[in-house]
Amino acid sequence: MKYADRTNSMKASEIRELLKLTEDPSIISFGGGMPSPHSFPIKIVENISKRVLEKHGAQALQYGPTEGITSLRQALIKRMKKTREINCNLNQIIITTGSQQVLDLVPKVLINPGDYIVVESPTYVGALSAFNAYQPNYISIGMDSEGMKTGELEDKIKYNRDKPIKFIYVIPVFQNPSAITMSLERKKHLLEISEDYDIPILEDEAYSELEYSRERLSPIKSMDKNDRVIYTHTLSKVLSPGFRLGWVVGEEDLIRKMAVAKQGTDLCTNMFVQFIAEEYVRLGLIDKQVPKIRKMYKKKRDIMLKALEKYFPEGSCWTKPNGGMFIWTSLPEKINTKEMFEDAIKAKVAYVPGAAFCVDGSGKNCMRLNFTNTDDDKIEEGIKRLAKIIKERL
Ligand SMILES: Cc1ncc(COP(=O)(O)O)c(C=O)c1O
Repeated sequence: MKYADRTNSMKASEIRELLKLTEDPSIISFGGGMPSPHSFPIKIVENISKRVLEKHGAQALQYGPTEGITSLRQALIKRMKKTREINCNLNQIIITTGSQQVLDLVPKVLINPGDYIVVESPTYVGALSAFNAYQPNYISIGMDSEGMKTGELEDKIKYNRDKPIKFIYVIPVFQNPSAITMSLERKKHLLEISEDYDIPILEDEAYSELEYSRERLSPIKSMDKNDRVIYTHTLSKVLSPGFRLGWVVGEEDLIRKMAVAKQGTDLCTNMFVQFIAEEYVRLGLIDKQVPKIRKMYKKKRDIMLKALEKYFPEGSCWTKPNGGMFIWTSLPEKINTKEMFEDAIKAKVAYVPGAAFCVDGSGKNCMRLNFTNTDDDKIEEGIKRLAKIIKERL
């Protein structure tokens, strides 16, 4: 087969390949980024589904508008205004097949082969998979406890002034994989940079609902007076990832272009689940479910943090996130977490090696640990197994 050039940059996600090895139920896996099955509102979905079929049966089983059903867009606009201080109108939002689709549509309408995308290091590996198909180059910016180092970003933009930098991708809240949250000062600086150098920001808030300490975390989009920010969010972490429901908010013209691009991809997002989600959001059922999920995950995070403190060797450190689904762990430099993965599988425990999340060759001694999809009573045992193999390597 004579494949297109773009397939050269479309590598199979290392994570998916590695995680195939973890299908064995005796392995305690901190690898995948999945919500707990106990977080799904199964009974609620059952009840709403019946009502949707009674009230909107034919429409729910039919093709629908590419932009998504109006009532769901309205319900999301109302909720974003209340919980995220984001104001937008109906022409500035479309429903997508997961927020993953937004990570495909944005480069689809903005990137020519060879253009530049700014990413955090580390960043969400699924975003890299989506971007890679459009053959971009990357400018990778380091992070510290306040998130992306915006000073470094500005220096690199100045240095690369002749290059077409098309957008800056950030996950400012409980980032995947690092769990770091960007400070308000950095968010403001990032927005200033975006305006000064005319580079849009793609703000991905996938984890902002999973917040365990009642912090007030204003999104960059809420400060965005001049439509510099393309904002995406998802119902995957607070309803169901299987529903594949996300959305994007942005400037009207860009949203129109994205709707046209989406039409060529899937015509429309699943109508039945849009109707279900509409009731879930409009009736405030989401507001009852989210606190339950937060409570469940906070407990799991605490168990994992305690176990790391107890078992992990000196010279390792990890983020102590106030939300999200992950803990990012840095081990002593001599440990290569990709090489160690085989030992971990033998010891019946799994994680994701850090290098998979970095486009700049860093992260080799790091690993991402997911705490939401492991039963409480297995978390300590998993960390104990992991600590043992790390100590053996040291
Ligand atoms: C940061 C981030 N963005 C986007 C997504 C895509 O999620 P979905 O397509 O389920 O909305 C994920 C999935 O884990 C993620 O971690």
